[in-house]
Amino acid sequence: MQGGAVSPDKQRVLGVVGTAAGGVEVLRTGLVEPALERGWQVAVTLTPAAGSWLRANGEAERLAKATGFPVRDEPRLPGDERPHPPVDCYVVAPASANTVAKLANGIADNQALTQVSEAIGTRGVPVVVFPRVNAAHARHPAWERNLETLRSADVKLVYGPDVWPLFEPRDAPPRRPLPWSSVLDYAEAATA
Ligand SMILES: Cc1cc2nc3c(=O)[nH]c(=O)nc-3n(C[C@H](O)[C@H](O)[C@H](O)COP(=O)(O)O)c2cc1C
Repeated sequence: MQGGAVSPDKQRVLGVVGTAAGGVEVLRTGLVEPALERGWQVAVTLTPAAGSWLRANGEAERLAKATGFPVRDEPRLPGDERPHPPVDCYVVAPASANTVAKLANGIADNQALTQVSEAIGTRGVPVVVFPRVNAAHARHPAWERNLETLRSADVKLVYGPDVWPLFEPRDAPPRRPLPWSSVLDYAEAATA
């Protein structure tokens, strides 16, 4: 079997990674429940900042209930079992500019980055990233180089004016929906 292809007999596991960016508050209804409906098993990991947001509003608990797995936002103790099954594909959505920069530079200083950084270097575990950024993030001098680094590692970026037009900070239309179904389409294409 080549690349990220998964045996048709096995239920595929989607590793959903949420960061502290706009839209993460609807991660469950936008991404996790639709992925479950499409037949994925889903295991959710959050950055520490996203974990604090979703624990504060009760969503972390609802995500755990929906997926059947604990939501991870901190590393396990060395003697503990891994709480999630092996993942067939990671989606980082929404990905903050901060997390994109860290991933491109191999920084793994939290559980979410640790898992995704390892997947980027693992044959057969595709990684899809939706950078949920604005025009100011994209003008940072390191931004294009970071995206190019990720593309060259075969990370699939859900990015560009067709999927997420960039607005100046605080100029975007309020509550604009994230391209959740494109993120899932990329994950399915990457594991087909
Ligand atoms: C309410 C709020 C919304 C934010 N939205 C975004 C966003 O959409 N994109 C982004 O790149 N950063 C956003 N940030 C900034 C990030 O939360 C910040 O850079 C944080 O350090 C990201 O941490 P993480 O990548 O570990 O989750 C937001 C911050 C706050 C307080």
